[in-house]
Amino acid sequence: MKKVIAVSATLCLLLSGCSQVDSLLEKVPFLQKDNESESTIDKTDANKEQQDLNQETDQAEEDVPTLDAKFFNEVKVVDGKNVIQNPTNFLVLVNKELSLPDGYIPEDLVRPNVLFSFGDQDIEKSYMRQDAATALEIMFEEAKKAGIHLFAVSGYRSYTRQSQVFSAEVSKFGEENASLSVAIPGTSEHQTGLSMDLSSQSAQFELSEQFGETTEGKWMAENAHHYGFILRYPKGKEGITGYKYEPWHFRYVGKEAAAVIYENKWTLEEYFGTVKKI
Ligand code: DAL
Ligand code: ZN
Repeated sequence: MKKVIAVSATLCLLLSGCSQVDSLLEKVPFLQKDNESESTIDKTDANKEQQDLNQETDQAEEDVPTLDAKFFNEVKVVDGKNVIQNPTNFLVLVNKELSLPDGYIPEDLVRPNVLFSFGDQDIEKSYMRQDAATALEIMFEEAKKAGIHLFAVSGYRSYTRQSQVFSAEVSKFGEENASLSVAIPGTSEHQTGLSMDLSSQSAQFELSEQFGETTEGKWMAENAHHYGFILRYPKGKEGITGYKYEPWHFRYVGKEAAAVIYENKWTLEEYFGTVKKI
């Protein structure tokens, strides 16, 4: 059939005004008319695809979380180091590349009313900044109602204390290994007063990977964001955070950011790499 039509069409070209072939062409769906409609579909499809793509892009842009400019680090390079100029910002991003200013001590440190692995001792590491401490208290209360018994182990650490912790780790494991677990003084979140290390009786009150396998550790990983905390050094994100998995280290960032970070399975670094400054 196709062959006949092809021959007829060729003939028609040679013999202008070949009405027989014209009418034949009209009746054959896969010839001229179809080609025309096919190219129309092609164009329509392409337009639609482009429109869909534009809509998706618009949607993706709308979906990008926004954050007020005041919550971003203001950084100044001092002696080759990136030094954060607004360390009291509760969303402060502190890591191996971003240091706290020399001698930084938060002004609103308080001792949260929670259970500590070391009992009632009033020592530096039991302190946190006011908002973080209040959030911690609420979280511990709610956890208790769910049958989860948490213990706070280590909160605020001064520069001096972090130096001691770091030196002890270096003498045990060497500098390279130590820096995968303990922050160099001046670059620890513990110095912000916004972090707390947690454990449980089931994990012998230790800061170990085992805590992540306990009911308490799992509850924390799944629920901390409801109270404004994030698991700061997740498994599989070592390349981004620069630290080994720490199922015990929770950082207060406020409920809004914590929810976004939890839902997207981000680190704080990824959050700041994505949010749009407004
Ligand atoms: N263990 C965390 C990284 C710190 O020392 O701050
Ligand atoms: Zn910690």
